[in-house]
Amino acid sequence: MKLVENDVAVITGAASGIGRTTAKVFANHGASVVVADVDEEGGAKTVADITENGGEATFVRTDISDSDDAKRMIETAVSEYGGLDVLFNNAAIEGPVARLGEYDNDAFEQVIDVNLKGVWYGMKYGIEAMLADDGGSIISASSIGGEVAVPQYSGYGAAKAAVGQLTKYAALEYAEDGIRANAVAPGIVRTEMIERTVEEHPEMEAQFLETEPMPGLADPEEIANAVLFLGSDMSSRVTGVTLPVEGGYLAQ
Ligand SMILES: NC(=O)c1ccc[n+]([C@@H]2O[C@H](COP(=O)([O-])OP(=O)(O)OC[C@H]3O[C@@H](n4cnc5c(N)ncnc54)[C@H](O)[C@@H]3O)[C@@H](O)[C@H]2O)c1
Repeated sequence: MKLVENDVAVITGAASGIGRTTAKVFANHGASVVVADVDEEGGAKTVADITENGGEATFVRTDISDSDDAKRMIETAVSEYGGLDVLFNNAAIEGPVARLGEYDNDAFEQVIDVNLKGVWYGMKYGIEAMLADDGGSIISASSIGGEVAVPQYSGYGAAKAAVGQLTKYAALEYAEDGIRANAVAPGIVRTEMIERTVEEHPEMEAQFLETEPMPGLADPEEIANAVLFLGSDMSSRVTGVTLPVEGGYLAQ
């Protein structure tokens, strides 16, 4: 069964990791996908992966921390595919690994710009398009670091906690307009983001492997499937929640 047949989905950060995998999963389930990212090469690869498989996708270069770019990204969905049904605010940067007192000022601002303001811009312009097109579903990427403190990730965690709160606001304010808003909170997922961190801080690999009560790390598909659930009518009565996809970490 195809769960998002004929839907139009915009996915930010879709040139890599969870975003790329989610773009492919949505295309396999019948959606036309707008692949948005700062990484043009990676974005083109995601589009090629989808079209070679018979799916429909287009790339739009987007720095999601820039409001004009965010607006153009949403306009691309409308001009290319006639509307917007699903928005996955997935793009984020990890920022430095440092205790709060040693966290670099510029890096903090950058993390807030991409991970929080980027989600805000996506929601703002995405909602505008969904209101014009009988509603839709917004999913944003949070993290276990947005639910509890994960030491040395204060900027990232603060932005992710705020993503959960923005999700509640969007859900309540647009509940009567057919727009649902939810978030997913992954634990540790095998992506380029984690590979970069392990390269810089090899001592963290063992810590990552032991984080989730379920063994090993999550595969990007396991997050993409949760996003598919939240983006499809399978979750038609679910709004305002942050769904943990973290092998039981938050149950402790
Ligand atoms: N990997 C994990 O363990 C993990 C855990 C919890 C939450 N998450 C969240 O999942 C999401 C995806 O993470 P990932 O692991 O796939 O990361 P990733 O680094 O593999 O991919 C992130 C993508 O976002 C893009 N991006 C970065 N800044 C951007 C900007 N300003 N505008 C547009 N695109 C930009 C990058 O180019 C990249 O393609 C993020 O929100 C991340 O915080 C990841």
